[in-house]
Amino acid sequence: RCPEVEDPPGRQRLEGNLRVIRDEVDRLDKVVKNFLLAVRPQRPNWSFVPLEPLITATLNLLEPELKEHHVRVIFQPLEREQLVPVDEFQIRQALANLLRNSIEAMPEGGEIRICLSLLPDRVRIELLDTGEGIPRRIQKRIFEPYFTTRADGTGLGLSVVERVIREHQGRIRLDSEPRQGTCVTLDLPLSASHTKQIPILEEDTEQE
Ligand SMILES: Nc1ncnc2c1ncn2[C@@H]1O[C@H](COP(=O)(O)OP(=O)(O)OP(=O)(O)O)[C@@H](O)[C@H]1O
Ligand SMILES: [Mg+2]
Repeated sequence: RCPEVEDPPGRQRLEGNLRVIRDEVDRLDKVVKNFLLAVRPQRPNWSFVPLEPLITATLNLLEPELKEHHVRVIFQPLEREQLVPVDEFQIRQALANLLRNSIEAMPEGGEIRICLSLLPDRVRIELLDTGEGIPRRIQKRIFEPYFTTRADGTGLGLSVVERVIREHQGRIRLDSEPRQGTCVTLDLPLSASHTKQIPILEEDTEQE
């Protein structure tokens, strides 16, 4: 909102332009980050991260896009805080890619449900949308780099998600019912060989 611009048509135009700029910045941010993750994979930067704030931070980042597309999010967290060994930047990017795919699949708006569950050795993140779903004949191609059905898509989104999850020694599974919706299940291990490299910070190393 721009209260300092008095005349309503001018203000509307300005707000419209600002929205276009914001959307373009978001789009470029996504393209650049995915491109870098796809072509120049960085060695992951492991740390133990609480899962719930990681997800809410990603949702907050996407809030304008969710609102604009009339997508409601229902987030069902775990009963207790759970630390997971992840590269926080990469998991956020993976979640953002999945959420954006869901938003794009619901041009008339809809709902995304995020459910967390704790299994003996891993956490499960399920993302369900009420979007258009994926036609069966293309379902096996969607993880290929550069495969897209969208005019402005790069087709890198899911290939990056797949790589990130693989590097976390996790699993990804996608089930989709055309015209009903899509469910993506991510399993992240609570301990794996990569987690042994994570330095355990001593309490007394925290200083003012
Ligand atoms: N939740 C979903 N609902 C329906 N179709 C989906 C969903 N997620 C992925 N797809 C399909 O899989 C294709 C590949 O997805 P991917 O994220 O890799 O690329 P993209 O979304 O097309 O491009 P970009 O990620 O650069 O915007 C999409 O073009 C779309 O057809
Ligand atoms: Mg995508």
